[in-house]
Amino acid sequence: MRNDFGLTFTALNPVFAAECTGVDIGEPFPPAVANVIHAAMDRYAVLVFRRDKALTTEQQLNFTRSLGELEGKYTKIEAEAGTRLDTPLLSDISNLAPGNTILPAEDRKRLFSLGNRLWHSDSSYKKIPARYSALCAHVLPPAGGDTEFADMRVAWDTLDASTKAQIRDLVAEHSRIFSKGTLGFTFTESEVRDFAPVRQPLVRTHPHSGRHSLFLSAHAGRIVGMPQVEALMLLRELTEHATQREFVYRHKWRVGDLVMWDNQATMHRARPYDDLKYPRDLRRSTLTCGAPAMHYAAA
Ligand code: OGA
Ligand code: MN
Repeated sequence: MRNDFGLTFTALNPVFAAECTGVDIGEPFPPAVANVIHAAMDRYAVLVFRRDKALTTEQQLNFTRSLGELEGKYTKIEAEAGTRLDTPLLSDISNLAPGNTILPAEDRKRLFSLGNRLWHSDSSYKKIPARYSALCAHVLPPAGGDTEFADMRVAWDTLDASTKAQIRDLVAEHSRIFSKGTLGFTFTESEVRDFAPVRQPLVRTHPHSGRHSLFLSAHAGRIVGMPQVEALMLLRELTEHATQREFVYRHKWRVGDLVMWDNQATMHRARPYDDLKYPRDLRRSTLTCGAPAMHYAAA
């Protein structure tokens, strides 16, 4: 797909995800180019931009801001030695402490971030969840550490009619307590208060493309009005359906890559690597949906 502005989108998978060439995302671009990128996000839901060098903090923030409004601050679990990046506006998706030393096995930030290996949608534990996430690769391990994406629109489209009817009106509760909790992570009392569950529609309508998608995430841990065992079983069944191989794009990183995904239409997960031995440094900027996802419930 090529357009008047010289951007080209090449599909990376039969279902979704494309590589975008013809724009330097390290330089400012006019709103018309931003609109082309938004239209491609509505279609592909994951875009890959490849560069020789990782973006600087300023470049990444400028690029992301040209597409929408950044998410506000939120309680984070920090490495025992404090924060590493020079700005609170980027999320530190790494196994590193300040000074770029590798986090030790028992570090809380390390254990917390292992939860990224569960399928999730970013910030689904916030009432106003994330729109796009943009993740830029600075340092990569020699093996492993890919990221996988699954298309939640196709997941919805391929459900049978009776399942669609059964789940269409359901509301789930999301919290980091549920996602990290299933891995045995424990929380302080103040974290339990800060991470109180929020309600999200199980099926949402995309504000731009109008497509329905399953709003699943490891953070989902209850369904309103449903016995707990049945709720967890249903969430597992749907997640299994949504993440079958045919609906998944696996990204193999190169330094300098920026991958941007629409959390309204996809889930993603990190894949393992030897994180006690090799550094992996990626940095994420995140746009907000701007309105509660409940406003976009499909029902
Ligand atoms: C994220 C995330 C996965 C990875 O940045 O939100 O889940 O592979 N990253 O690091
Ligand atoms: Mn994530």
